[in-house]
Amino acid sequence: MQLQGKHIVLGLSGGIACYKAAELCRAMVKEGAAVQVVMTEAAAQFITPVTMQALSGRPVFDSQWDRRPGNNMAHINLSREADAILIAPASADFMAKLLHGRADDLLSLLCLARPIATVPLLIAPAMNREMWSHPATQRNVAQLRVDGSHVLDVGAGDQACGEQGDGRMLEAAEILEDLIAHFQPKLLQGQHVLITAGPTFEALDPVRGISNLSSGKMGFAIARAAREAGARVTLVAGPVALDSPRGVQRIDVRSAQEMLQACIAHADASDILIATAAVADWRSADAAEHKIKKAGSGLPPALTLVENPDILATLAASDRGRSGALFCVGFAAESQNLLELASAKRLRKGVPLMVGNIGPQTFGQDDNALLLIDAQGASEWPRNTKIALARQLVARIAEQRTTTHFHTR
Ligand code: C5P
Repeated sequence: MQLQGKHIVLGLSGGIACYKAAELCRAMVKEGAAVQVVMTEAAAQFITPVTMQALSGRPVFDSQWDRRPGNNMAHINLSREADAILIAPASADFMAKLLHGRADDLLSLLCLARPIATVPLLIAPAMNREMWSHPATQRNVAQLRVDGSHVLDVGAGDQACGEQGDGRMLEAAEILEDLIAHFQPKLLQGQHVLITAGPTFEALDPVRGISNLSSGKMGFAIARAAREAGARVTLVAGPVALDSPRGVQRIDVRSAQEMLQACIAHADASDILIATAAVADWRSADAAEHKIKKAGSGLPPALTLVENPDILATLAASDRGRSGALFCVGFAAESQNLLELASAKRLRKGVPLMVGNIGPQTFGQDDNALLLIDAQGASEWPRNTKIALARQLVARIAEQRTTTHFHTR
């Protein structure tokens, strides 16, 4: 319920992407939002107000002459009670209207009438690729941003007209993610956050290897939360089956050594490192070129293992790590004695903040419970969804970085 208590005006202008607005409306309601749909005359050519009313659970507004409101001022009422106005789809024509402050239908009228300082306007463009790339549209997009609107990205690919290119409306899930992100405090604005996530896979031969049950969900949730907080995020991911959070640069790696190289390449440009990856402790000293076969003697093959580099400890021990210019946060997955083991790990790795969790209770789950340990002591964060904990952790890191003197001991 990530939009609980939010009142959103969902405005539809004319375009085939109106069909996606139905799914978007449903998704917003599922997240707890009160959704008030407003449609232009053109939008009603693509999808009916009946559908949108049924999905939102509220009568749709589609005319500035609607006599239902007692004061006969739907444009004022609707724009005053909103926490945000989201136009999806926003046609090229509708954006041109907004740009000029025209107000000859209810939707453009309420956009113009909105209290600009308190009610954000988000715009999800949808149009043919030629219309999107036309200088007039690009000029309008740039000016709408200057005027304080949040114009979302467009998608690329097949278009309803049969052409291919930029200009498709984002998918409902993507718009929902951007809308939720919009409401998060921008605690890491301008910061660059480097995150490791997932397991690593250390090859024994071309088809087998050493790995673990880490799903990457906690690290991916933190990447999403950091991006929501305004950070530029680089997510170095081991082999996981997860979609990338929106707006995050993802680098896929397999082994610990690859993960280390990717992290070293990005560490100098980063302000914060959050190491959630469950890095395999050992790798094969000499991975076999071909599949290791059973000897027939009943004896297992002799495997020689060597220790992997410790990515977190390496970066924490760098000049920037030691000075706090790169604020390093570790995770400790244990099965018992969490406080004792995670505290010792914090000191051993030389990091200001260590986050403990119980491995079997977090791997693969959508929720988790955390134990935060810094030089001052420990605090327990009770079980919650990983995204809720990730947002809490981002807030904590933002605060600890700026308010406490940097030390690990
Ligand atoms: O030693 P252990 O694996 O329990 O340490 C956990 C913490 O150290 C995590 O933050 C993990 O991402 C990091 N780590 C690492 N490189 C390793 C081992 C662990 O970055 N080789």
